[in-house]
Amino acid sequence: DAAGEIAELGEGVDGFAAGDAVFTYCRRETLHWGGYAEYLPMDARHVAPIPQTVSVMQAAAIPLAALTAWQALVDHARLERGQNVLIHAGAGGVGSFAIPIAKHCGATVLTTASAANADYVRSLGADIVIDYRAQDWVAAAKRHCPQGVDAVLECLGGQVPVQSLDVIRMGGVIVCLNEPVEEAAAAARGVRRHRLFVTPDGEDLREIARLIDAGTLPVPPIQVLPLAEAARAMELSKAGHIRGKLVLAVRESA
Ligand SMILES: NC(=O)c1ccc[n+]([C@@H]2O[C@H](COP(=O)([O-])OP(=O)(O)OC[C@H]3O[C@@H](n4cnc5c(N)ncnc54)[C@H](OP(=O)(O)O)[C@@H]3O)[C@@H](O)[C@H]2O)c1
Repeated sequence: DAAGEIAELGEGVDGFAAGDAVFTYCRRETLHWGGYAEYLPMDARHVAPIPQTVSVMQAAAIPLAALTAWQALVDHARLERGQNVLIHAGAGGVGSFAIPIAKHCGATVLTTASAANADYVRSLGADIVIDYRAQDWVAAAKRHCPQGVDAVLECLGGQVPVQSLDVIRMGGVIVCLNEPVEEAAAAARGVRRHRLFVTPDGEDLREIARLIDAGTLPVPPIQVLPLAEAARAMELSKAGHIRGKLVLAVRESA
């Protein structure tokens, strides 16, 4: 994902002007050489004006994580008021949007996070924080929700997808962002399974921007590194304990 100013419009593109501050998430089919660059060719359908209340650097941290959380909880899980949802890795990039989006839908949020992130995920709206390092998260989720949660947002892989089936009520749903739980295993428990691969979508981004400007969705904390430190940024990300998002500044002055 990326944020910046429109340098030039393609033929037939309406609704934008050169100089507009925009943000975007798009895939290799439309952005062949990645986002670590000064100029990016973008499909106008994948672009939206940045929220009015954030900087361009903050805006760059939003599209992929927010679209993923939005499409997982709103489009696939179809969360409703009064439901319970377990969001794994609530302090991560996706989790930091998923928690307030779930609250916006009217759900009660259980989330897993280490003790150091407990206050952070509570500040995002989490109702129940499960320290996955200090306790058995399956037992803790069952204790808080004996009838089973309505939905799980899963992004960790390994045993977590299949273990998650133990905490979902019959008729509930699991949305998997990485290795999905087997369809048959989910069906045997009466659970709907979705495997999500986030879709670029300028309309969803406009809705997300509206919710950010309304104060409904907080923007996650960002750590900004110069583009020259992209390799270090990748190492930090791969270590798996970033709170919020990393942003690469392409220009020193950005
Ligand atoms: N399918 C898709 O379209 C899609 C889209 C976006 C992302 N993804 C995938 O979704 C995953 C999450 O992405 P992200 O950007 O949110 O990752 P991230 O920001 O790197 O996640 C880091 C967070 O994960 C937490 N964490 C690590 N191990 C954990 C565990 N065992 N239990 C609970 N929390 C744990 C860490 O919390 P602590 O520091 O508290 O441990 C940290 O806050 C990635 O694998 C990514 O590839 C898929």
